[in-house]
Amino acid sequence: MTTEPAECGKLAHYLTVLGNALDRFLTFRHPDAMQQPARWRSVLERPLPSSGIGIDAVMEELTHTLIPNGSAIPNPGSTAFITTGATTIGALATLAGAVASPQRLTLNAFTFLEEQSLDWLVELFRLPPAMKGLYSSGGSVANLVALGAARQQAFESLGIDPARQGIPGPGCLYASSASHHSIHRAAAVLGLGREAVITIATDPQGRMIPAALERQLEEDRARDRVPVAVVANAGTTSTGAIDPLHAIGTLAHRYDTWFHVDGAYGLPGILDPRVRHRYAGLELADSVIVDPHKWLGAPVGIGATFVRDRALLQRAFTQGASDYLERSCTQATAHHSLDNLGIPYSDFGVELSAPARGAVVWALLREIGADGLRARVCRHNAMARQVAERADAHPHLEVLQRPTLSICCFRYVAAGCPDLDALNARIHRALVRHGRNMPSTALVNGQLAIRPCFVGARTGESQASALVDEVLTLGERLAQGASPDTDMDASNSGSMPPITR
Ligand SMILES: Cc1ncc(COP(=O)(O)O)c(C=O)c1O
Repeated sequence: MTTEPAECGKLAHYLTVLGNALDRFLTFRHPDAMQQPARWRSVLERPLPSSGIGIDAVMEELTHTLIPNGSAIPNPGSTAFITTGATTIGALATLAGAVASPQRLTLNAFTFLEEQSLDWLVELFRLPPAMKGLYSSGGSVANLVALGAARQQAFESLGIDPARQGIPGPGCLYASSASHHSIHRAAAVLGLGREAVITIATDPQGRMIPAALERQLEEDRARDRVPVAVVANAGTTSTGAIDPLHAIGTLAHRYDTWFHVDGAYGLPGILDPRVRHRYAGLELADSVIVDPHKWLGAPVGIGATFVRDRALLQRAFTQGASDYLERSCTQATAHHSLDNLGIPYSDFGVELSAPARGAVVWALLREIGADGLRARVCRHNAMARQVAERADAHPHLEVLQRPTLSICCFRYVAAGCPDLDALNARIHRALVRHGRNMPSTALVNGQLAIRPCFVGARTGESQASALVDEVLTLGERLAQGASPDTDMDASNSGSMPPITR
């Protein structure tokens, strides 16, 4: 069956069908997708269809085959990645944008919110007020864009335009050993090379050591390489550590080097009065990134870069004039949304076609406001502290890294156990298979930790104690030599309470 052009006037009906299926999914009473993979693969694995089956039949497959076999990541007990399920308003705003404003080009109500929401984020996260932003697909691209600006500045100061001419000699980035690997990839993409990332040592809490950075910057003065940027973390991926931003920013500027802060995960932590002081020095940043698709609960695909001077981004990333757009827009008038291409975001980064992400961030913040987000961040940070307090108080638990933000790294300990890393790895695998509390693991100073990262909008306080309880139960069983198969028996029964939000 084929229906072209696509039908109009049916969205309300299909949204109800879709909404019901997604609400059911979010109760997590279904088994994990990998419990019975043959069931959904046998429906989905087909040759390219030569004729269509029509929207009703596709909706049937979407609601009965895809959605019930979706990801475990949106489960409130999933604390493994710094990724969450989208909040309801985030998902709805994304859908609205996809239908009503499929580009951030042209001037309309959706694209208007691009700039306003970026400005809101500057205010919310206390960034230098003059900073201007750009959305992209996530933290990796946001870092790439920021470091592209850094590269532009570093080589322009030597009379070279790297965007036009390429780079004539080696440049380098300074980042701690706890930095996200998207920094290394950005170095590769920007033509600096992965080996241009000079690793600066961290202290036992995973924070960059300013004295080590200073030594390296001093040594490098004599070397023939251009310092492009110093990268600091406002919330590392493994442990949530926040580098000493003020000391690092001061050093970067003393050595005439761009100061970049990766706050993909941790920037919203500044909303929590208990940790706000750790962000002192953010005001020195030349660029900062944050991922609304992490703590803000946006659907995946939204990162943001902020710089002091967007003209620099334009010089680094401009597309150049194009015949295909010649005289399509007047720019001068505003009688029609197509008259004006709007702010040239596509010249500030690496994407031309891009969704209107600002409307999603606008919707998230309109729904709960700065106070609502602050409450969420404080709740998650308190949950990490709660895990640490329980671990401190229990003879069979040990904190390996005290929480700065919403991550707590801890492990089960058993007297006489010859290999605690192996024991904790088994506990972790059993947790994931049971499907109620699903943290990740991380190596902390060489020891394997169980690592919950609480960022999900649907993740409530009871999840912290539920995780600790389950680790204790499993630890006791596995330390006594129960076979891993016994752990797997308690298959993913998905006994989560219904989700109302
Ligand atoms: C500190 C940090 N920076 C960058 C990234 C990359 O973000 P994305 O996965 O959105 O590309 C992550 C991802 O977890 C991160 O934790």
